[in-house]
Amino acid sequence: MSKILISGGTGLVGKKLQSLLKSNGHEVNILTRNPKKSNEFSWNIKESFIDENAFTNVTHIIHLAGAGIADKRWTEKRKQEIIDSRVLSANLIFQYVKKLKLKLHGLISASGIGYYGAHTSDIIFKENDAPYNDFISKVCIEWENAAKQFEALNIPVTILRTGVVLSKKGGALAKINTPLFLSALGSGSQYFPWIHIDDLCNIYTDSIDNPKLSGIYNCVTNEHQSNISFTKILAKTTGKFLFPLNVPSFVLKTILGELSIILLEGSRISANKIESIYNFKFPNLKEALEDLLK
Ligand SMILES: NC(=O)c1ccc[n+]([C@@H]2O[C@H](COP(=O)([O-])OP(=O)(O)OC[C@H]3O[C@@H](n4cnc5c(N)ncnc54)[C@H](OP(=O)(O)O)[C@@H]3O)[C@@H](O)[C@H]2O)c1
Repeated sequence: MSKILISGGTGLVGKKLQSLLKSNGHEVNILTRNPKKSNEFSWNIKESFIDENAFTNVTHIIHLAGAGIADKRWTEKRKQEIIDSRVLSANLIFQYVKKLKLKLHGLISASGIGYYGAHTSDIIFKENDAPYNDFISKVCIEWENAAKQFEALNIPVTILRTGVVLSKKGGALAKINTPLFLSALGSGSQYFPWIHIDDLCNIYTDSIDNPKLSGIYNCVTNEHQSNISFTKILAKTTGKFLFPLNVPSFVLKTILGELSIILLEGSRISANKIESIYNFKFPNLKEALEDLLK
């Protein structure tokens, strides 16, 4: 049995992961800005503070904390918050782990497929491909570098570059699955790499249970859906009307500003590396959506 501290464990992934880890016999502590339960501990990134009780007997840390990337328009202030909530938070955890001389068995950090940039190309990106040069790739590079510093303490680091997480509760699917009808965005030809939340949480737990699973992994399925093919399968699964006209790019750009790029652009991401060690429960979108929505 391990004891795992999850930063940002109150969110979409963290809640599901917490119950999975507990059902696998592990103990879980949570780092949150608003502790409410007995296993939740407070931290304040701006004040460089963490309640040290959070670290008692901890064997692994999972770093999920981060201001929602698609939650608000990307003003300069919001962009900084997106970076700081991932990078300064990881730096702060690092300082405490060093100060408390914790002998961790692993640090597992979320990252995003945004590492390869928000752009549409013919490339199927693999883990050792170079990052892009836009805002979202900058976030992922800094986030991953902050995680990698734990290697200097001889702590194995696992980085999970995650695609859009499909879940019953909230997240992207709740936003896309509109009440009346569905429509493709922009050209609709941009790719939309996705993963079922059960598979993502299984990969996180495997990272705890299998020490060999350190390094960087793309966490998406190998079924490459474009925005339009995804939307068609979603409409068919839910019996909703597929609106025949795409939402023009300029409309999304006007409403969302620069953030619209993550909806309007996307390349394929290879799942070959993760598939070599993990058997996906939901490799197909149709079955994943049926599980989540029916
Ligand atoms: N969901 C996806 O589709 C997806 C895809 C790729 C990558 N990821 C990454 O995976 C991680 C977990 O995703 P998720 O969907 O579970 O995210 P989420 O639901 O937004 O939860 C993230 C947690 O981070 C904490 N947080 C938010 N803003 C913060 C801030 N300014 N400073 C410190 N903590 C803050 C919150 O915890 P408290 O309010 O309790 O402090 C929140 O519960 C995130 O880093 C996300 O970027 C998610």
